[in-house]
Amino acid sequence: MTQRIAFVTGAMGGLGTAICQAFANDGYKVVAAYHPQFDDKNAWLAEMEAAGYKDFICVAGDVSKLEDCQAMAAEAEAKAGPVDILVNNAGITRDKFFAKMEKDQWDAVINTNLTSLFNMSKQFSAKMAERGWGRIINISSVNGIKGQAGQTNYSAAKAGVIGFTKALAQEMAAKGVTVNAIAPGYVATKMVMAIREDILKGIVDTIPMKRLCKPEEIGGACSYIASELAAYMTGATLSINGGLYFQ
Ligand SMILES: NC(=O)c1ccc[n+]([C@@H]2O[C@H](COP(=O)([O-])OP(=O)(O)OC[C@H]3O[C@@H](n4cnc5c(N)ncnc54)[C@H](O)[C@@H]3O)[C@@H](O)[C@H]2O)c1
Repeated sequence: MTQRIAFVTGAMGGLGTAICQAFANDGYKVVAAYHPQFDDKNAWLAEMEAAGYKDFICVAGDVSKLEDCQAMAAEAEAKAGPVDILVNNAGITRDKFFAKMEKDQWDAVINTNLTSLFNMSKQFSAKMAERGWGRIINISSVNGIKGQAGQTNYSAAKAGVIGFTKALAQEMAAKGVTVNAIAPGYVATKMVMAIREDILKGIVDTIPMKRLCKPEEIGGACSYIASELAAYMTGATLSINGGLYFQ
């Protein structure tokens, strides 16, 4: 079998890094898409090299902008080849109670976390269907399923991710392309670990497993979804939340 090519957005963040490493461990060629203003490519590449990962191909752009996604996809195809696996992982939060939420906080979260799925999937889905094989994996959140006070923007975007996943899964089902979502609970990324210790303890106390999710546990789920044995699963949302919430 020829080497599969995976394209991961938000690749240099906490979950993105674990997903890139999982795919590299599986023998895929990985394109790491990053935001040139938010991420330090050279520092990340140095960190990856020290951990034994030397072959990541990097492309830069803003996933909320269609033209950037077109350019990143073209660069990825030129440098790596046709993309078989797309992980829509880039995301942000702009938390505010609704009474105080400004339109720009709403727009930023919807555009980055939801419109990005349109922008990126447009680049690869038809080509995957033409080749008769593909995987689109969208990172949602437990808060897109249960809702979270202070996150009307984020909860709406992440619920939208699940609706998008189910609809596109139906359109792609007969074409060898699966479309699935992952809804993580609280993952031990730098962002979550930066929460004040007592507040973080309060959060962990509410999780039945009494611990945070490890980033590699999300990487493992991506690895499974991308595998041949997951070919019959589409339109699904994998809840990985330590028992925090059941659908
Ligand atoms: N960490 C958690 O506990 C958790 C839980 C549930 C869901 N998630 C979701 O997982 C995904 C990854 O989160 P993370 O915890 O790794 O966060 P992170 O902040 O470590 O990584 C997010 C990455 O997305 C990139 N990004 C942000 N806006 C972008 C844009 N407009 N264009 C391109 N790249 C952009 C950032 O530069 C960053 O590298 C997000 O979609 C997040 O909502 C995270």
